[in-house]
Amino acid sequence: MIFVTGGAGYIGSHTCVELLNAGHQVTVFDNFSNSQPEALHRVERITGKRVNLIKGDIRDLPTLQQALKTCGAQAVIHFAGLKAVGESVEQPLNYYDNNVMGTLKLLQAMQTCGVKNIVFSSSATVYGDPQRLPLTEDHPLSTTNPYGQTKLVIEHMLRDLYHSDVSWRIGILRYFNPVGAHASGLIGEDPQGTPNNLLPFIAQVAVGRREFLNVWGNDYDTPDGTGVRDYIHVVDLAHGHLAALRRLQIQPQCIAVNLGTGIGYSVLDMVRAFEKASGKPVAYKFSPRRAGDIASCFADASLAHQLLGWQSERDLATMCQDAWRWQSNYPMGYAKV
Ligand code: NAD
Ligand code: WQD
Repeated sequence: MIFVTGGAGYIGSHTCVELLNAGHQVTVFDNFSNSQPEALHRVERITGKRVNLIKGDIRDLPTLQQALKTCGAQAVIHFAGLKAVGESVEQPLNYYDNNVMGTLKLLQAMQTCGVKNIVFSSSATVYGDPQRLPLTEDHPLSTTNPYGQTKLVIEHMLRDLYHSDVSWRIGILRYFNPVGAHASGLIGEDPQGTPNNLLPFIAQVAVGRREFLNVWGNDYDTPDGTGVRDYIHVVDLAHGHLAALRRLQIQPQCIAVNLGTGIGYSVLDMVRAFEKASGKPVAYKFSPRRAGDIASCFADASLAHQLLGWQSERDLATMCQDAWRWQSNYPMGYAKV
């Protein structure tokens, strides 16, 4: 039984599909602060299999312990957390409470229940402003915002835990920029309010929910002056979690691995690819740089290949086609079905 915190969210729901398809049983533990139960109904529809759902908050230790015990969890995939960079600057305590305190409680509950196997959602944000590209896992760690700090603190917490007890099996996965949706078009990213991230914003322009995209800066030291990122299909990312679970089965260990494609695309590359995939125009305007943004960020994805036997398979066209299928099927996301 795999215990998935935050399993109703964007990456969690896609990972649940792949876990169920691979024959795992899945318990989702989610407080629905940024998701809807409907996502899990769709997961069941796609897979024809049942998801065991427990509504709860990872900061609630007794409920967590009870949940881990009763479902017979063998491993945890830990997605639950808040993830909006701007919001984390305005509400740092909320982010430390939810992300750091929540993970602390989760690890305490796991220790009590003897479940010492965890895959954690970290982020390329822990590399800060890259000193060299592509980013390898031994690049110095630093952050520029409270959200990133919470990821870094949790990574340290996990490494300290492993050093205190080497029977733990810990996989830290540093995601680059997850995009796209399941090929069925039934599940996808459903941001509340104005999307912070590029692809959901572009998709909402294409579907007519927004007038134009603000391109934050066209004077970066990149081929076309706009920011370059390593976009990875969410289904490839989901497979990376299964690969990490398999790796952790071999022996106790604590590993940190990039999940990216190794390819960088600019904002304008993304606009053009989405226009092609959707057949819709994506109007945009150049605006000043967004505070805290970096010029370029892309992974060296070779360690994931070496350690996990994993590499991304879906190209940019597929990412945009799948995102568009979801967006055009459900222009208002899960809310208006
Ligand atoms: P999401 O917001 O869609 O999913 C997070 C889920 O966790 C939601 O279902 C939410 O309801 C739940 N949750 C939040 N706080 C909780 C709590 N205290 N108790 C129980 N459930 C709680 O986000 P996502 O994009 O799927 O991201 C999943 C994880 O991956 C997060 O930890 C995020 O920081 C990390 N990550 C995301 C990205 C990205 O760009 N999406 C990049 C790098 C890392
Ligand atoms: C990508 C590019 C923007 C929106 C953030 C977090 C990071 C991680 C992923 C969780 C940049 C440009 C964007 C828009 C734009 N999340 N852009 N107009 O900044 O790489 O990373 O999400 O861990 O921690 O910081 O992703 O999608 O916000 O931006 O021009 O309306 O698109 O400037 O160059 P980012 P993003």
